Amino acid sequence: MKFDSPATTNPIDRLKVVGQPFSRIDGPLKTTGTAPYAYERHDVAPNQAYGYVVGAAIGKGRIAGIDLGKAKAAPGVLAIVTAENAGKLGKGRLNTAKLLGGPEIQHYHQAIAVVVADTFEQARAAAALIRVDYAREQGAFDLASLTDKAKPNPITSGPGDTAVGDFAAAFAAAPVRLDARYSTPDEAHAMMEPHATIAAWQGDKLTLWTSNQMIAWNAAEMATILDVPKENVRLDSPFVGGGFGGKLFPRADALLAALGARAAKRPVKVALQRPLMFNNTTHRPATIQRIRIGATADGKITAIGHESWSGDLVGGKADGAVAQTRLLYAGAHRMTATRLATLDLPEGNAMRAPGEATGMMALEIAMDEMAEKLGMDPVQFRILNDTQVDPEKPERPFSQRQLVECLRNGAERFGWNRRNPQPGRVRDGRWLVGMGAAAAFRNNLLTKSAARVRLDGSGIVTVETDMTDIGTGSYTIIAQTAAEMMGVPLERVKVRLGDSAFPVSAGSGGQWGGNNSTAGVYAACVKLREAIAQKLGFNSTEAEFAEGEVRAGNRRVPLTQAAGEAGIAAEDGIEYGDLAKKYQQSTFGAHFVEVGVDAATAEIRVRRMLAVCAAGRILNPKTARSQVIGAMTMGVGAALMEELVVDKRAGFFVNHDLAGYEVPVHADIPHQEMFFLDETDPMSSPMKAKGVAELGICGVAAAVANAVYNATGVRVRDYPITLDKLL
Ligand code: MOS
Repeated sequence: MKFDSPATTNPIDRLKVVGQPFSRIDGPLKTTGTAPYAYERHDVAPNQAYGYVVGAAIGKGRIAGIDLGKAKAAPGVLAIVTAENAGKLGKGRLNTAKLLGGPEIQHYHQAIAVVVADTFEQARAAAALIRVDYAREQGAFDLASLTDKAKPNPITSGPGDTAVGDFAAAFAAAPVRLDARYSTPDEAHAMMEPHATIAAWQGDKLTLWTSNQMIAWNAAEMATILDVPKENVRLDSPFVGGGFGGKLFPRADALLAALGARAAKRPVKVALQRPLMFNNTTHRPATIQRIRIGATADGKITAIGHESWSGDLVGGKADGAVAQTRLLYAGAHRMTATRLATLDLPEGNAMRAPGEATGMMALEIAMDEMAEKLGMDPVQFRILNDTQVDPEKPERPFSQRQLVECLRNGAERFGWNRRNPQPGRVRDGRWLVGMGAAAAFRNNLLTKSAARVRLDGSGIVTVETDMTDIGTGSYTIIAQTAAEMMGVPLERVKVRLGDSAFPVSAGSGGQWGGNNSTAGVYAACVKLREAIAQKLGFNSTEAEFAEGEVRAGNRRVPLTQAAGEAGIAAEDGIEYGDLAKKYQQSTFGAHFVEVGVDAATAEIRVRRMLAVCAAGRILNPKTARSQVIGAMTMGVGAALMEELVVDKRAGFFVNHDLAGYEVPVHADIPHQEMFFLDETDPMSSPMKAKGVAELGICGVAAAVANAVYNATGVRVRDYPITLDKLL
């Protein structure tokens, strides 16, 4: 189905199931521990052996010698695979660093071997007997010392640099100016379920039961690396215990399980052990950002500039921290620039709203600082500089943009008018209390997505698509879409996800999964409706599907009868034309935070949080809310805790476990409120929905930072805001 012109009426506009707050249909499986995660799939292949991954102990250099003798002779060992005996491996498209390193070592804990044994304990014990001699080289590990050497680099959502008007002249001439530097640290996805895979070969056909966000990408990538035809690789990932971007691409577990299984001639399971998760996989790269804003005395922005420096391995990409600054606020003269330095740390890549999440951490402090210079309320300052068109390309309107409404609505609900604009003036016992606000912004991406839908003789509708559910609620919103379209109750819909044998979906990433995958299911259902109508001799435009029946005129046929013994199936997908270019599609929101800072110790506690979001039709308010409050929690992590600490001599992240890498726990998070504004976006898809999850993180950290400033009068521009920075 092509989606070139916006649909004005469609069955999704007469909603009974879509838009309802159903609990997750996979919830009982999750809460009873019966949803099988990759490592637990004991039944998929018999006689599974265990692989244990060995990570490189240097940040850069070469393996001078590797002695496998003792390990090979250890009890239970079936095979040891290294780059020396793995055979020729192709260069994947998705990975910057090799998933199996050696002799060259590109980063610390790059996998250099997998030991396969009968039991996990045997594999681990044998791995400890491998002797590796390294020739260490001096690597580059310190971003701050490399900013001069950093080079222009495109970002995922567009070019690296943009310019409109004459930024330098307009900034110099502006009566009120801000020029400030901010920094965000390296961060880890730190999902609960580590990367894990069971691999089994049948001849030259490989099956990987794994944990992955993007099935088609990863099946193709593994085929390329292993140099087997694409159709020979099957991936199956029905349940994913968190991803946050870390499972967009295959990691060492998948490749080493496949290589281990080939060598041992047995199915092999590999999970990356927790200490490897932080340096072996990808992370969110650190940024240094410079923001300049110039405005008239009455608060109109005339010049806005945002530069960002980040680092990655050779062949990597810059963090897209400037993305939102191209779109969020008006201003005739503007520039953005992205600079990438070569760093020998582990591979940087997408994590939890890559680009906007880091960019908003800086931009939305800068807006707060600028409002203070202007003597304006920071919410008012943002409202005053709203734009309804893409400020870099004024001929492109936003499809929907309710930033001002979100800010106003949120300010009222939060009691923003009670904020004292003078910092450090509000006391509650030992606590200094402050309020902060920030805009939320994240782009909405359109991606081709397909599904297969089948109605069987018992009236059950089965949906199959390679879409994944990474804890987001995909199962549920897909079931709701099919139930709505086919006129059956939710319980009559079965959803099967995550298998590369199914039609290719949008997958889970960049908050594009919900809108696009349900639009693909919509398209397949339209086709199935047509097929059923045709079979019954109904005019397909008149046929109505409701309450388990197909109706046209005075004829009514139960779906069970319409399906017949054999059942009836249809496959289709949604394909977008030029929509995303004619309209700028983005999602908007506003975050409000109240913090208390202990006047003696500077301990920071978040006391209240509120978000108001406008993100198209909300397909399921319950699962969408869960996504947003989860994202708000991650925003608190980014503001106050999360930081991979770089050892700048040896070149690795020091705090590589969940004890040293701190994330918020329940006790850190107060009651969170969040509201969605009414919105349908006919430009976004037939569902008129948009992405919603990642919007929830973008801006939160700055709202916390602004609240800390309002509480204490100390402006911290380097995340995380730990108490030492306030004393
Ligand atoms: Mo998201 S970081 O694009 O999975």
